Amino acid sequence: MKEWSREELVAQAMEARKYAYVPYSGYTVGAALLSRSGQVYTGSNVENAVYPLCTCAERTAVVKAVSEGEKEFQALAVATQNGGAPCGSCRQILREFGEDIVVLIANSTGAYCETTVAELLPGSFSAEDLTNTENRN
Ligand code: THU
Repeated sequence: MKEWSREELVAQAMEARKYAYVPYSGYTVGAALLSRSGQVYTGSNVENAVYPLCTCAERTAVVKAVSEGEKEFQALAVATQNGGAPCGSCRQILREFGEDIVVLIANSTGAYCETTVAELLPGSFSAEDLTNTENRN
């Protein structure tokens, strides 16, 4: 696993914010997801006139990466105007791929705080909870 730059990953998330499609909320979010292979997958939020169909930036990045064969991740940076944290759904989406993923939460100045998926989603539900399931159909 190569060395990586937190500042560079945050910069890529900030750049991805520019592609947010947010005609309803006006709240732009960018994400940059670093795979263990060293590849970065960016994403932005994509809204829809049917509001529940809005896609978060983090989810966009995860779906892009996994659909290109990546399943192991080192870190995710998420950038917003005000340093907003990943929503609960995105925390679970990230959790699917590990608790040790580093999460950098940045604002529009590039200042960020660092946490992990485990810290963001303690006591999480995961694939392990589905093993040895009784009453499986
Ligand atoms: N949003 C994200 O992209 N990621 C989050 O973790 C929180 C919320 C988006 C969804 C919607 O387009 C806008 O921010 C306002 O909720």
